[in-house]
Amino acid sequence: MGATGDRSLLRAGERVLLVDAKQRRYLLGLRPGATFHTHVGIVAHDDLIGVSEGSTVLGSTGRRFLVVRPTLAELVLKMPRGAQVIYPKDLAAILMEADIAPGQRVLEAGVGSGALSMALLRAGAGVVGYELREDFADRARANVAALVGDDASYRIELRDVYEGIDERGLDRVVLDLPEPWRVVPHAEAALRPGGILCAYLPTINQTSQLRLALEASRFGLPSTLEVLHRTWHVEARSVRPDHRMVGHTGFLTTARLLVPPAGAGDGPAGE
Ligand SMILES: C[S@@+](CC[C@H](N)C(=O)[O-])C[C@H]1O[C@@H](n2cnc3c(N)ncnc32)[C@H](O)[C@@H]1O
Repeated sequence: MGATGDRSLLRAGERVLLVDAKQRRYLLGLRPGATFHTHVGIVAHDDLIGVSEGSTVLGSTGRRFLVVRPTLAELVLKMPRGAQVIYPKDLAAILMEADIAPGQRVLEAGVGSGALSMALLRAGAGVVGYELREDFADRARANVAALVGDDASYRIELRDVYEGIDERGLDRVVLDLPEPWRVVPHAEAALRPGGILCAYLPTINQTSQLRLALEASRFGLPSTLEVLHRTWHVEARSVRPDHRMVGHTGFLTTARLLVPPAGAGDGPAGE
């Protein structure tokens, strides 16, 4: 009981989410003596440090703010970004479709702002990221460090995944870049049999090109899906879908590296 209560207390150095009466959300890192300015008043960090997550505090103008630790989904949408992040609904689907589990060795490319890295690490995987741009790699490292600290199971290399993958015996290859079909031959060499390739793509043309490359490879059991996520307005007698939703983000394609059947490709005897 006591231990559970202690985990609720907000500490200096933590990131928290302030939610105002209009449900606007503000992400801030708690620093003793600092203040946070919104257009509806100022909140002293010292009024947040030491209180329990889920508490309501008063700003300088008497407005109320709810304070909680951000969920990973809230963090991904609020954190500083360089490249466009993968939306939480798709991050969740990637964890299931690519069957990410603790202890797996995962190659991720490109890393961008690190949102997908954060989801993979949270699920317990060890991640090597390939990224072309140094500024994006720095941003991703900072975002990941703010979530999990300096994690020994996370490394980013500045390099082009289209030119090859050095790792061998990987469990998963997860891709969010424009031409994943160029990675298919490298993933064939880098994954262990049964390993999963998972690619996130914004258009169906790209998805179709990837599927053709997979067909001509040792990958099998291909699957493509998109996730439609519709929130609802629930208030008294007005219970209906919200008027607005994110209409489109991207398509997820997965496939598994197979062992060629014995005798396949051996010429006439194997045909
Ligand atoms: C859309 S962003 C990835 C966002 C990331 N999944 C996230 O959730 O934060 C695509 C990234 O791929 C990188 N990229 C593009 N081509 C690449 C390549 N051939 N090798 C490595 N990284 C590449 C880009 O620099 C960019 O940072």
